[in-house]
Amino acid sequence: MKPKPFSIGNPTEEELFSPMEVYHENSKLGPGNEELFQRIATVNSSPHIRSVISRPFRSYPGCPTVELPSGWGNVTRSLEDILQRRRSHHHFAGTPCRLQELAAVLSLGDGIAARQSGEDGAEFRLRTAPSGGGLYPIETFCLAFDVDDLPPGAYFYNALRHRLELAAPGDCRSKLIGASNLKVEIENAAFCIALSVVLPRSSFKYGQRAYRFALLEAGHIAQNLLLAAEGLGLGALPIGGFFDDDMNRLLNLDGCQEFVVYLVLVGNRAG
Ligand SMILES: Cc1cc2nc3c(=O)[nH]c(=O)nc-3n(C[C@H](O)[C@H](O)[C@H](O)COP(=O)(O)O)c2cc1C
Repeated sequence: MKPKPFSIGNPTEEELFSPMEVYHENSKLGPGNEELFQRIATVNSSPHIRSVISRPFRSYPGCPTVELPSGWGNVTRSLEDILQRRRSHHHFAGTPCRLQELAAVLSLGDGIAARQSGEDGAEFRLRTAPSGGGLYPIETFCLAFDVDDLPPGAYFYNALRHRLELAAPGDCRSKLIGASNLKVEIENAAFCIALSVVLPRSSFKYGQRAYRFALLEAGHIAQNLLLAAEGLGLGALPIGGFFDDDMNRLLNLDGCQEFVVYLVLVGNRAG
């Protein structure tokens, strides 16, 4: 099909009502959003709601689990050096990563870093990446292909217990290849972190704006993961181009309220 020329000055119906712009308008914040401000105030002041939202943790009860080594990876390089040298890597060595390296990437990327107790008794776990209202709508999964002492499979990262829980057993490398156009990269990487959104965790408080927050927060975590990989001497590639439905199926997510938004492929560097 021939692409339609972009019209300036005389926008088409499609351009006028682009879903992107409609969403942007609908998720704007201004002094007129009194209902939303009221809702936010209610959430912030209700001990019961705060107690519920202080535990934004899912788990896969009954599924095989893998305890992760503790520690943050002992990265000794300076932040300046890590920031300057981080690059997207396409050439992976095709060799296994250590479980300790995977554990360090996960704890630096999205681990629990602190506790915060409120006067009302609510106890929040604060993570390495910031989150709007401390609601933590992003979940972290690990697709393990070639990691020492870790059977291949799709695992949920349970940050509270710093362990992996098997969400979908079996070979997920070929499924990931089918969901992207990065065959060679995925064939030679050791694991892939998938970031998914649990939208209601944030939208019950922030309404339409929750989608913006979710993407921003996935970006925070992804940058942590990329910098952690760089600090550990691993290669990493952020991936936004994947088939959504395939990725959601892979992790048994419904694709509406919970869905994958970002991937970070990690492995040893070639050469
Ligand atoms: C949101 C986002 C999505 C991306 N998606 C892909 C992707 O699907 N495939 C890919 O090869 N690289 C992807 N990249 C990596 C970019 O191509 C890369 O960051 C860019 O070329 C700049 O290089 P640098 O990361 O080394 O600074 C993505 C980067 C971002 C920030």
